[in-house]
Amino acid sequence: MRKKIIAANWKMYKTCSETENFIKEFKILAGNYNEKEVVICPPFTSLYVAKNLLEDTPFKLGAQNLFWEKEGAYTGEVSPIMLKDLNCSYVIIGHSERRQYFSESDEMINKKIKAAFAHGLTPIFCVGEKWEERQRGMTEEIIKRQVKNGLEGLEKNYIENLVIAYEPVWAIGTGHSAKGEDANEVARLIREIIAEMYGRDISEKIRIQYGGSVNPQNISEFLSQSEIDGALVGGASLKPESFWGIVKS
Ligand code: 13P
Repeated sequence: MRKKIIAANWKMYKTCSETENFIKEFKILAGNYNEKEVVICPPFTSLYVAKNLLEDTPFKLGAQNLFWEKEGAYTGEVSPIMLKDLNCSYVIIGHSERRQYFSESDEMINKKIKAAFAHGLTPIFCVGEKWEERQRGMTEEIIKRQVKNGLEGLEKNYIENLVIAYEPVWAIGTGHSAKGEDANEVARLIREIIAEMYGRDISEKIRIQYGGSVNPQNISEFLSQSEIDGALVGGASLKPESFWGIVKS
């Protein structure tokens, strides 16, 4: 059985004090809830505050990005070692906003995934097609390219821990989520690609999330699908009640 995993991607929202308020309130709502895995991914500047507040809870901490080098003259970048030092378990890699606004290529994403695994961080590897690509019937081709290039040369023993988030770009922040069955179809395709690359055993172990306008009302439509093991949540993860509504569904 794959344990369900719900992750909050706060993007560029919340100062340290806002992070503190959120986690304190969330802890009151969620107590020691452990049925699904819960991951909070605040901005880098809030990781230290979040680390201290999450220490006595079952909830995990994640970052939203990393650089692939251990250290060096890379102004403005954050290394996997620094994230490990902050007790991060997860790191989001290849989010469509990073592909779009920061020109992240499949090759860069591949280096980041390798660096994350090499330092004991689990990547939440994001893939997804744009609206015009879906319209042109290119979804399968795009997902195949992103998954294959992103995982190129990765050792088999790492892969079973991988989390892949299927986030159709057109569903992100628009209020128009994908249909549960359509998202499930792409999740099945992702599992097939992993099976081709690494074998059926491993493909059955990896967890696949759906992301894109998830909220407390529509989450069960996704979690009830056979191939979907959780969600990566943006906007609806910014309020403790709403995030808790998604987690406990
Ligand atoms: P929204 O939930 O705000 O659509 O964002 C989804 C997302 O990008 C999570 O990574």
